[in-house]
Amino acid sequence: MPLRDAWQDRPRGAEGSRAGSRWADRGPAPARRATPRQPASRRGSRRGFPNRRGPDARAAVRFTSPVFRRALDGIDRGRYRLHQVHVAIWEGLIWVSLAGQPGPLEEQLRPQIEARLGDYGKVERYRPGELTAGARAEYDVAANWKLIYENFQECYHCRSIHPELVATIPRFKSPAVGAGGYDPGGYPVAAGRRSFSLTGQTVLPRLPGLLPADDRLFYGMVVLPNCFLSLVSDHVIVHRFEPVAPDRTLAVCEWLFPAQTLQAGRYDVADAVALFGKVNEQDFAAAQWCQPNMSSRAYAGGGVLVPSEAPVISRYYNWYLGLMEDTCRGATR
Ligand SMILES: [Fe+2]
Repeated sequence: MPLRDAWQDRPRGAEGSRAGSRWADRGPAPARRATPRQPASRRGSRRGFPNRRGPDARAAVRFTSPVFRRALDGIDRGRYRLHQVHVAIWEGLIWVSLAGQPGPLEEQLRPQIEARLGDYGKVERYRPGELTAGARAEYDVAANWKLIYENFQECYHCRSIHPELVATIPRFKSPAVGAGGYDPGGYPVAAGRRSFSLTGQTVLPRLPGLLPADDRLFYGMVVLPNCFLSLVSDHVIVHRFEPVAPDRTLAVCEWLFPAQTLQAGRYDVADAVALFGKVNEQDFAAAQWCQPNMSSRAYAGGGVLVPSEAPVISRYYNWYLGLMEDTCRGATR
């Protein structure tokens, strides 16, 4: 299946209306207003309209404003209307496919989640579709999107560039942490730290659907083609990526909490947000360091640079090469 036909995570509502603006690295900051997540829906397909940054609710509204409608008088709107695309919602995330007749979104997502977590029901327990964005950060990364994905799928680099993360999750110190694939049982927070946060001391309420056994565990996974999902017992972190150019990627990170946790004066989520804020900055800087080297002819053949995690990264390479083969085959038909 060509990449353009895969379901892809896209901006939610107003966030996607910034087409054409230059997205700056603002670092994590509390969201100006908590944005209710879309209700979870596991099936069904809706319609959207593509523009430069994908289906954009506000752009669609702009195009149908009274002034614009008058400008369209006499024009055959059926002939010049916006193109429709398929839109589906999964756990509050809007996914878009440009395929004429895409398969169900769940068929694309479920195998990935089962392969990583061992149990699809595990992600449902976190109920990300019922959570609210407590913080959001955008990063204009001067690197190809595949570098960022490769980085997230290996932890060989963690000990070197993520001191705060490995202090929180000690198993990430091992250069062989993903050698046999990643642990579907999750990775425990260090003894002596009370939470997945920068200081390790901030305690937030457990997510409503979780069990006591879920406490103090971290799961991170890539949801192909353009989403990362990180699960901890008191919040969920979602990354979305948009390739802007061969050497530039827009990264959007949202930290999701229960609405009750975000009610004014109840809890301070800044400490929890700060940990992955650090990880983002460190990972995106690393991807930018690698980008000039990967532009070299010496890298033309690619190659696995992290031998201990070669199986995981090789699967990723094979997925991408398969997409390219399908795309080339479609182009020559
Ligand atoms: Fe990293």
